[in-house]
Amino acid sequence: MAAPIEKQRTVAIVTGANTGVGYGIVQRLLEKDCSIKIVMACRNLSRAKRAQSSLLEQFPFADIDIELVDLNSVRSVLEFCANIKAKFDRVHLLFFNAASLITYGINWSDIFWLFFKDPVGLMERSDATIQVRGEINQDGMGSMFAANVFGHYVIARELEKELDASGNGRIMWTSSLTAEKRLFNIDDWQGVKSVLPYESSKWACDLVALGSNEKYKEQGCKIVSYSTAPGVVASTIGNLPSWIRSVRIWIHYIFRFCGVTSQNITGYRGAIASVFVALQPHLVDYFVRYTSATTAWGRSFVTLAPIEGYDKREASKLLQHCETAYQAWKVKLAQEK
Ligand SMILES: NC(=O)c1ccc[n+]([C@@H]2O[C@H](COP(=O)([O-])OP(=O)(O)OC[C@H]3O[C@@H](n4cnc5c(N)ncnc54)[C@H](OP(=O)(O)O)[C@@H]3O)[C@@H](O)[C@H]2O)c1
Repeated sequence: MAAPIEKQRTVAIVTGANTGVGYGIVQRLLEKDCSIKIVMACRNLSRAKRAQSSLLEQFPFADIDIELVDLNSVRSVLEFCANIKAKFDRVHLLFFNAASLITYGINWSDIFWLFFKDPVGLMERSDATIQVRGEINQDGMGSMFAANVFGHYVIARELEKELDASGNGRIMWTSSLTAEKRLFNIDDWQGVKSVLPYESSKWACDLVALGSNEKYKEQGCKIVSYSTAPGVVASTIGNLPSWIRSVRIWIHYIFRFCGVTSQNITGYRGAIASVFVALQPHLVDYFVRYTSATTAWGRSFVTLAPIEGYDKREASKLLQHCETAYQAWKVKLAQEK
């Protein structure tokens, strides 16, 4: 027998909640309101359970579920959504935080030149990493695009009814300071030919986040979708060797002390922007990116900046591509049944 559907309480789903910024999002949500029902959408059960236990130590009365999902597999995403629908008739908050950055390592000559030419840029962007190019997943889609954008797009589409039913559904997409128009090409929307597929996918997150609002407005849905960014967090993203991470933390602190406010360093500080967007009662400005920042003295706050180069037509084209791919999957899976 299926479990009874839960009603009333705010339901928040956080992808990639077991570590880094996602873990910080859960901490901040529970600090604000311990009655929020949390769903940690993670791909690895033991990592998720470990994070759940440590969250329950900090918030013993919290209600935290784990639902497994691999964003790189449409089948897994659809199964995840079916489980969510079976449990909840309303979903209030979707935090699209999980992301993959697949690298071979670091381009040391870029690091050297950037250190002299643009030291702040060096500490804020990931373009000095050597990214794996042209990687296609088992679904035949650009791997980083699939995990960072398309998997989330499918969740947003599948849970539209539940978000709308909440009366104030909010989707927090996670972009980055590295997301720039010049790093995205609509003719290579999955970033398969790109030398920086991660950056390409992050610009795509901005396009989908902002572009979706047009559709929600036209359809009269009570859903708003936002672009957020965690600033710089010394997480394990990019799978760089642990000694690089340790060295980098010290450099981040030095830059922060010199007044570079993007250097949030911890997932908890990096989570401030998306949780602000989720819980602020009247938030109307959705043509900006909400970004986490921290002062030299460790006070975290949210900044708001226009998304330079945002192009409505480009967003609409990308949404069309995602929708076509989504519909094709629906047909394919219906035929398989
Ligand atoms: N760190 C930064 O400085 C920075 C800067 C700008 C933007 N961001 C963005 O902030 C978000 C969080 O990053 P982070 O630094 O916290 O990274 P992180 O510590 O590496 O966490 C990423 C999370 O995403 C999950 N994930 C990766 N691929 C997945 C997949 N295919 N299916 C399901 N889950 C998957 C990971 O799961 P596992 O633990 O199982 O691997 C992990 O929980 C990302 O969107 C990232 O692009 C980060």
